[in-house]
Amino acid sequence: APGAIPVLAVDGPTASGKGTLAAELAKALGYHLLDSGALYRATALAARNAGVALSDGPNVARIAARLDIRFDGESVWMAGQEVSHELRLESTGGLASQVSVHPEVRQALHELQLSFQRLPGLVADGRDMGTVVFPQAQLKVFLTASAEKRAERRYKQLIAKGISANIDSLLLDLQARDERDKSRAAAPLKPAEDALLLDNSELSIESSVEQVLGWWEQRKAPT
Ligand code: DC
Repeated sequence: APGAIPVLAVDGPTASGKGTLAAELAKALGYHLLDSGALYRATALAARNAGVALSDGPNVARIAARLDIRFDGESVWMAGQEVSHELRLESTGGLASQVSVHPEVRQALHELQLSFQRLPGLVADGRDMGTVVFPQAQLKVFLTASAEKRAERRYKQLIAKGISANIDSLLLDLQARDERDKSRAAAPLKPAEDALLLDNSELSIESSVEQVLGWWEQRKAPT
């Protein structure tokens, strides 16, 4: 039964550090990793490339259902092309947030997300991992940080990559994206009732990883 394969769900808003935390957890546990945001990002890019309007739910869902995506370590391939860089762009995140409001699109990506649940276990990163996709997860973490802190981290990341950025416009962008992700009718961003909240505004990545691994130790083996 799929319930026998452990799942650790990490949800939270844009730039909360979910991606980094989830990747570190997967590495520490030797588990598979699902970056569900990448699927919404890939869907948005594929729709745009096909000339489909992002507001057209049914047609975007058709594209999502046929998504030809492959994860290979740090790199992501779509239809035989390396798209890691384009996928990570701030602008692509905004497009992903737009396609993710459509229930048909979420439905089209549901099974693909479930297919990542394989032995020995899965760390799943997104907005609705604990609420919708893996409600049976042994541990659900809802990661937060203040909007200012998140904007500052995103700013530093971009500058480090040699991409110019403006901290005020980053803050406005991420507040707009949070608002859209939280207020949509289908699978809005919110903590699962049984989620453990972790505010990492003042925590290093290492301390966040340690905290969650501690929780996992207590949760995973019901003996
Ligand atoms: O985590 P991310 O920045 O890669 O996600 C990009 C967008 O995709 C996010 O703004 C909302 C959407 N998303 C979603 O609706 N559900 C998920 N499980 C993951 C992402």
